[in-house]
Amino acid sequence: MTSPAIKAERLQQRLETFADIGATPAGGVNRQALSPEDREARRLLAELAKARRFGVFQDAMANLFIRRSGRDDRLPPLLIGSHLDSQPTGGRFDGALGTLSAFEVLEALEDAGAQTPSPIEVVAWTNEEGSRFAPGVMGSMAFAGAADPAQWQSLAGSDGASFADELAATLAALPEAAMRPLGMPLSGYIELHIEQGPSLEKEGLAIGVVTGVQGTRWLKVTVTGEAGHAGTTPLPYRRDPMVAAVGMMHQLQASVMPSDADARLTVGRIATIPGSVNAIPKAVTFSLDIRHPSAGRLDAIVGDVQAICRAEGAKQGCSVEIATAFDMAPGVFAPEMIDTIEAAARRLSLPCKRMVSGAFHDALFLARVAPTAMIFVPCRNGISHNEAEYVEPASIRDGARLLLEATIAATTT
Ligand code: GLV
Ligand code: MN
Ligand code: MN
Ligand code: MN
Repeated sequence: MTSPAIKAERLQQRLETFADIGATPAGGVNRQALSPEDREARRLLAELAKARRFGVFQDAMANLFIRRSGRDDRLPPLLIGSHLDSQPTGGRFDGALGTLSAFEVLEALEDAGAQTPSPIEVVAWTNEEGSRFAPGVMGSMAFAGAADPAQWQSLAGSDGASFADELAATLAALPEAAMRPLGMPLSGYIELHIEQGPSLEKEGLAIGVVTGVQGTRWLKVTVTGEAGHAGTTPLPYRRDPMVAAVGMMHQLQASVMPSDADARLTVGRIATIPGSVNAIPKAVTFSLDIRHPSAGRLDAIVGDVQAICRAEGAKQGCSVEIATAFDMAPGVFAPEMIDTIEAAARRLSLPCKRMVSGAFHDALFLARVAPTAMIFVPCRNGISHNEAEYVEPASIRDGARLLLEATIAATTT
């Protein structure tokens, strides 16, 4: 038996092949959750798995599992992977890098004829992004028992599609994948991902050993005023929800992040009703994505946000409703898995640091059911959720080599 080794060219080629599925003219991908493109990517991964005689399974959330047997198949598997869905104008590496690197690890073990004590499974989680169907990390949340998928049955997507129909079509598209129940005992979970921020590149580090994930709150703000004629309604007679919403956004941007360097606040989606050029809108809705590593600070910021929105609404005589669309507490990873990854990075002489993830990941929910940690690699200028996302081939190779090394260590300790 030779030592298992990552074939960096094969992995690079795979990343390119998958980037063709849902490719956008600007060089990114649009492979949103449960779309035909997502199905095509899942199918390709399942075919690659069958060609290597690995087992292929899916569960009721269409989480896709690829299994390589261990010496004792009754032992709980070690799970490695990420997601294959993307943002609408997403990059080629967010999710795909972790999933395809995990598959490369299985292939490297297979090429070397290496036996692992327990099985190893690659996973591609369903709907990590939450852009087409909110919330995100649905597949891993349901797998970890942190949410009942029944609540999403009547959900409609940003394109009007039915979640239930799209999930059923996705499951039906892989008839050869054996169905298994949601959730199972695991010996651990390791996810490789791009950092999606600038720190590793700036500090010249090859690897981030991720110790946890900051908290996220998604709010939907609905500001209701009075519809009116754009040409005839003088200022004193207006209750314009757009003016109120702009005031809210301005105040929020001027206060939340400037007063707390660890806070993040983003308005990513805005809609007006009825959305007519020559009508004062009746209502405006917008999304807020708010993040902080401290649960207490996150609560406090959400309190401030609510106060600012109500005050700005009142100035325009508008009512304000604020609904929570997603609430994810900060998560802390398992010290033993963090140590395993860090020690593996040292053995490979990869310069690394410990860090908290600014983005949420499926690992957040896996951490509730198994010893979990993540590996980050740098991406150019920290750019992600953007078609320009780019990862140097050397970083891809470093990340995959470390995933292999950590996987072997985690299955043998
Ligand atoms: C996941 O994509 C996130 O928004 O952190
Ligand atoms: Mn991702
Ligand atoms: Mn993402
Ligand atoms: Mn993500």
